[in-house]
Amino acid sequence: MVQLKLEHVKKHYDMPGELPEIQVLNDVSLEVRAGESIAIAGPSGSGKSTLLNIMGALDRPSSGSVILAGRDFSGLPEKELAVIRNRDIGFIFQLHHLLPQCTVIENVLIPTLPWKASRFFDSSISESQEERARRLLNRSGWVSECITGRAGYQAANASAPRWSGL
Ligand SMILES: Nc1ncnc2c1ncn2[C@@H]1O[C@H](COP(=O)(O)OP(=O)(O)O)[C@@H](O)[C@H]1O
Ligand SMILES: [Mg+2]
Repeated sequence: MVQLKLEHVKKHYDMPGELPEIQVLNDVSLEVRAGESIAIAGPSGSGKSTLLNIMGALDRPSSGSVILAGRDFSGLPEKELAVIRNRDIGFIFQLHHLLPQCTVIENVLIPTLPWKASRFFDSSISESQEERARRLLNRSGWVSECITGRAGYQAANASAPRWSGL
């Protein structure tokens, strides 16, 4: 089943006063199936980050479509894109962007903070978010004693459970 689809995606950045504008992505179409892994490779400046930002709903294409699980991002208001980013998309950054003042498990639970206040909170989930966070951390090799410690510098691995769709 196709999970993510890009159709004729183009992206240029408007640089005021500079002509011609920078055309970074020129007609990119691709399909990613559920369970499939892909790699995007290319020299520095070739548009990898631009493409990932567009696939991850962090940025919009100049034209073309991004469709995730049958939902076309184009035309969706910012609020709905924010929900998609929260629930359906995860990024593991080279720099992990964890909050060092929070514990490892608190970092993992950060994306769940808006849920209870939102109509998107699924009250049918029986396992508590905290139990699920612990289970995911354990699965990533975290032992219980470390989970309640400060994230500090050791915690690059905590960013994986954070995006695992808690
Ligand atoms: N916000 C931006 N404004 C203007 N130009 C940008 C912006 N982001 C990236 N670019 C330009 O787009 C091109 C592709 O950048 P990028 O997607 O970061 O490439 P990569 O990740 O492959 O190194 C580069 O020429 C870069 O300078
Ligand atoms: Mg890059």
